[in-house]
Amino acid sequence: MTDKLIPLRIAGVGYSLPETVVTNDDLTKLYETSDEWIYSRTGIKERRLVSGNENAIDLGEIAAKNALKKAGMKADDLDMIIAASTAPIELYSMGCQIQKRLDMTKQVPAFDVSAACTGLIYCLSIAKGFVASGMYKNILIVATDNNSKLLDWTDRGTSILFGDGAGAMVVTASDDGVDDIITIDIKSDGKYDHLISLPFDGKNCPLVEPNEVHPSLIKMNGKGVYAFVAKILPKYVEELLQKTGLTSDDIDYLIPHQANIRIIQAVQERLGMPEEKVVTNIKYYGNTSAASIPIALAEGVEKGSVKLGSTALLCGFGAGMTWGGAIIRLREGIC
Ligand code: UT7
Repeated sequence: MTDKLIPLRIAGVGYSLPETVVTNDDLTKLYETSDEWIYSRTGIKERRLVSGNENAIDLGEIAAKNALKKAGMKADDLDMIIAASTAPIELYSMGCQIQKRLDMTKQVPAFDVSAACTGLIYCLSIAKGFVASGMYKNILIVATDNNSKLLDWTDRGTSILFGDGAGAMVVTASDDGVDDIITIDIKSDGKYDHLISLPFDGKNCPLVEPNEVHPSLIKMNGKGVYAFVAKILPKYVEELLQKTGLTSDDIDYLIPHQANIRIIQAVQERLGMPEEKVVTNIKYYGNTSAASIPIALAEGVEKGSVKLGSTALLCGFGAGMTWGGAIIRLREGIC
């Protein structure tokens, strides 16, 4: 431990998507809907879904390995793994599952953060604290989701929105005194827990009472989520910028959680940002929950729509309700 706060460097980012594409037209085989209805309300045309035995651990492993490679690190260089998953395949720690896949010889701490679609920002905030204090240096964050296994595929109001995917980020102590996190903030309000939920009721002991197994599926009040987020998020993001003493002119890219194009546009309009600064891939991947921000970031850099040596504003929201934002530096070499 040290008395001086250690600045953080974002060393590498990576992502992974399943190959199976399900279009809006495909969904018409499941229920009464249309490409026009879905696209006009959400901005989504298609999504990627896991198939066969593929799951969030597989996607997270690839994203993690990509991020480690970009960071120029081996798995054994890591001091900690933090996983965020809205749809974990293993409730007893996705972090440990990723650790196992990385074949680490060191027994570093690995754990999960449950903050739904705001997971990446929560993990980054936690990692910043550990790096700043000097407790841990090299931290892998993996945000990975296979929502498709936990959706009610008869619920057309919810299942149209989500896709599967993973994003990862490796952070470390900055050796030049510059912190890549200019600001970071996380929030939650449990009073709004009813808007999106994934109950794991389980069942009581049969000696206590007869019972049935309840399916554990994602439940969402879409209209309620939309109203809540449209009210709080644009204002919140504007205030985050103001508190930091920056304006939207100082930000090169807005990289928001990819939940609904209309919510993204509401944030963009509030900040008065031109469209070319807004990174979106919702059209092709839908809402990949915790993974959506790191996928948009890593894919944007890989495809050249996000140039490095820049500044990005990340913002997200999710079940809980949780929300958060970060302004970060994107240095050369992270992808
Ligand atoms: O990270 C998770 C974040 N979640 C979100 O960001 C969700 C935010 N909310 C939304 O994006 C929108 O609320 C939805 C796209 C989910 C739904 O749009 P909406 O305009 O709020 O629709 P609604 O739920 O109010 O439904 C309007 C009508 C209903 O029919 P009636 O009762 O008016 O006859 C629905 O049954 O549209 C019907 N409907 C559909 N019709 C065709 C609902 N889903 C569909 C569908 N296709 N897929």
